[in-house]
Amino acid sequence: MNENETRNSYIFYGRRKGRSLSKSCQLALIEGVKYLIKKEELSNIVNTEKRIILEIGFGDGKNLINSARINTNALYIGADPFLNTTARCLHKLLKYNLNNVVIWPDDVRKILKYFPRKSISEIKILFPDPWPKKKHQNRRLIQDEFLKTIGSIMKNEGTITIATDEDRLKRWILEKFQKYKNFEWEAKCSKDWQSRPIDCYETKYEFKSIIQKRNPSWFVFKKK
Ligand SMILES: C[S@@+](CC[C@H](N)C(=O)[O-])C[C@H]1O[C@@H](n2cnc3c(N)ncnc32)[C@H](O)[C@@H]1O
Repeated sequence: MNENETRNSYIFYGRRKGRSLSKSCQLALIEGVKYLIKKEELSNIVNTEKRIILEIGFGDGKNLINSARINTNALYIGADPFLNTTARCLHKLLKYNLNNVVIWPDDVRKILKYFPRKSISEIKILFPDPWPKKKHQNRRLIQDEFLKTIGSIMKNEGTITIATDEDRLKRWILEKFQKYKNFEWEAKCSKDWQSRPIDCYETKYEFKSIIQKRNPSWFVFKKK
């Protein structure tokens, strides 16, 4: 998890470490090391009958932890390169002593190729970094190559849920998925994208979005 480790193949835009960590978060990084996974371990970890749910950019872990507490029969894999939020999430994992969550504390794109084909049942990406400016659009997570990769590692009928309150990113997401015929947009009416799906919990960024009177949308796509 050190800075140099991540410089190998991806450039990180923005910060990987913010303010200095509180004592409890520093402790969580030490005690919570049991939750951290290595790339090479992934194929063994996902070799299970359980439903595999991948949350990309879990932030402080609100959705990840609440979901894992309810669905104890599913295995949750959380990926986020930001050290401070990972520490906060580990702190909660230790508090609730969860044994159905593992954490990849880095860029998710580095582990996607380690998932066996058709192994993931659900992917959640809640409020990804929007990179609203046109000149930064190649920094967005949702790209053609990304969709191609997740298309192969997701189970048929598996779902990917993406939330955002940034209009340019909303259009971008819909355009990208429309182009990629392996996914079908689940929405039947506007209510379907204007309200949070029942299997997602309010996150810090959704809360911020509502306070700022922005309109979050939730897009659910099903793998054909
Ligand atoms: C705007 S925050 C949203 C956090 C949380 N999902 C929420 O709704 O409160 C975006 C998160 O995505 C993470 N992130 C950005 N790029 C990522 C990547 N390539 N792989 C995994 N996580 C990433 C960031 O570190 C950050 O925690």
